[in-house]
Amino acid sequence: MAKEEPQNALKRSLSLLDATAISVGAIIGGGIFVVTGIAAGLAGSALVVSMVVAAVIAFFTALSFAELAAWQPVEGSVYEYARQVISPFSGFLAGWMWMVSNTFTGAAVSLGFAYYLTASFPDLPANVVAAVLCLAFTALNFFGARESARLNTVLVVAKLLILVFFVVFGAFNANTANFAPFEPFNVGVLYGAYFIFFAYTGFARAAVVAEEVKDAKRNVPRALLLSLAVSTIIYVLVGIVAVGLVGSAGLAGSNLPLAEAISATGSPLAVQVVSFGGLLATASVLLTAILGVSRMAYSMARRRDLPQVLAKLNPKFCTPHYSIWAVGILMAVLVLFFDLTGVVAVSTFGALFYYAFTNAAALKLKTEKRRYHKLVPIVGLGTCVVLLAFILFAATQAWIIGGICLTAGAVYYGAKKRASK
Ligand code: ALA
Repeated sequence: MAKEEPQNALKRSLSLLDATAISVGAIIGGGIFVVTGIAAGLAGSALVVSMVVAAVIAFFTALSFAELAAWQPVEGSVYEYARQVISPFSGFLAGWMWMVSNTFTGAAVSLGFAYYLTASFPDLPANVVAAVLCLAFTALNFFGARESARLNTVLVVAKLLILVFFVVFGAFNANTANFAPFEPFNVGVLYGAYFIFFAYTGFARAAVVAEEVKDAKRNVPRALLLSLAVSTIIYVLVGIVAVGLVGSAGLAGSNLPLAEAISATGSPLAVQVVSFGGLLATASVLLTAILGVSRMAYSMARRRDLPQVLAKLNPKFCTPHYSIWAVGILMAVLVLFFDLTGVVAVSTFGALFYYAFTNAAALKLKTEKRRYHKLVPIVGLGTCVVLLAFILFAATQAWIIGGICLTAGAVYYGAKKRASK
């Protein structure tokens, strides 16, 4: 750690449950409530197979995160790991792509929120609502809306209860005929896995606040794996019930697939409950996305990897105000120019990119520091790279935009290095 990092300034106040809830809070959002429709359109009634494939890939990377977090539970997560274990440039690129990915995540979930909201107010243009939401949540962050563990736990419990309600209530009305034809070996299942992978990202959030977790060496790795396990179980059940209710075509044709699915029960109250869940889940992920990106920008600026101005704190609210507004305005612009599929694809591209760095860092850890077999990061790295390569064909736009962002980061880093010589 560099000297300027106030390692001891952070209070270890988060329990295993709090840390798990922080990760679940960052995981469950627009992915399950909105992107399920896109994935169902690609995978057909084998949607659940895409969900399992994506979960398995996420698990290998989560084990690498767990390995690194157990070795050194530092704030900053992949930025710090790649920086310390691989090289400062790798750390920069990982942190940079983390910000790119989470900025596009924020755009995606605000579009998801807008879809659920404009279902009740159809005259409002969804992308303008999403842009206003980004700015409103940016203002909240500016005034110091911090990741309050208690509020987060309440939101997580509410999201989980609504999804459990969806599963239990929906199961009574599901029809097995909606699973025909079931084609798990269709290439669409892999395309679907790429898009639904978005729904699992965020599991490593507990590692970002590692220095605030009690007994972090044990609790952070456990929190990552637990949060992913809980989300996988819920997603698989939701996927089965959603297809059982309206079939994959019914989900694919909707911007609010879970509300669409539950409407097959004929209960308007159930539709309202599920729509409320959609609003809650997307809004909470948006809040953590703005907070997360501005915090990462702040950490990188503190180490002089980004312009110093991004590390400046507002004297009144003690928040990194330039970072916060830069992120929020960028998200608001993105939702005006991109559709949901586009922002989800770039977000997932960025996530797979920094997950690849995480696996590479775990692979480079010395043998005596290792808890899992070397095969874990090898499989993690391999699956991330394969999914990334695969997407070259499925969502070329994500490669172009992701590639431009990556190049911009590398050019900035090179220019900064030259200037400091
Ligand atoms: N996994 C997060 C979501 O689904 C990004 O919203």
